[in-house]
Amino acid sequence: MYRLFVGLALPDALREPLARLCHDLPGARWVDPENFHLTLRFIGEVDRHAAGDIDDALLRINSPAFEMSLAGLGTFGQGRKLRALWAKAVQAGSELNHLRSKVESAVVRAGQPPEPRKFKPHVTLARFREVHPDRIQSFVELNGLFRAGPVTVERFVLFESHMGKGGSVYEELADYPLHQALPVLQDAGTSGQTEAHT
Ligand code: 2AM
Repeated sequence: MYRLFVGLALPDALREPLARLCHDLPGARWVDPENFHLTLRFIGEVDRHAAGDIDDALLRINSPAFEMSLAGLGTFGQGRKLRALWAKAVQAGSELNHLRSKVESAVVRAGQPPEPRKFKPHVTLARFREVHPDRIQSFVELNGLFRAGPVTVERFVLFESHMGKGGSVYEELADYPLHQALPVLQDAGTSGQTEAHT
């Protein structure tokens, strides 16, 4: 079986500034900078045949390359139930949301159940062994002005997650190109989308 998800690998221009943030927070289990990524769609455990169908469906996606930045931090969960610290991904247009919808449709077409949760584009930096809500809140506030990028996202990736004692390691199984938008079409269809929240 393969534990799969679809996501974006991060270039060094995002990875390095993120890695510099990751210290001085008691109870944090920091993600190894090698493993930083943005999840477009978590799939979970599938057999070889289903993995092949997912790959075929992802290969058919035709979606434009886009610019993406990181801006500010946030958390999932609250108080003692706080479970993840992340950096927020921001885009000028709506290509990231567009890509995410295409990935969702492709994965469903390949026979997987739909993802009911809304998309909140983020890069997880830490999960918590022990939660000190006040310390985490101050960390988020202190780094509220964190910015990195923009970078051009030119591909997306099918990852396999290997769960080990030292945390998960993500392996790139396949990647898929995003096409260069024609300049005349670059501004078309980018209005009317807002960022979704989990
Ligand atoms: P994250 O994107 O918030 O970090 C691989 O496990 C990736 O898929 C992780 O980055 C994880 O969270 C994301 N993911 C989304 N839903 C998940 C789930 N139900 N179980 C495990 N990981 C999930």
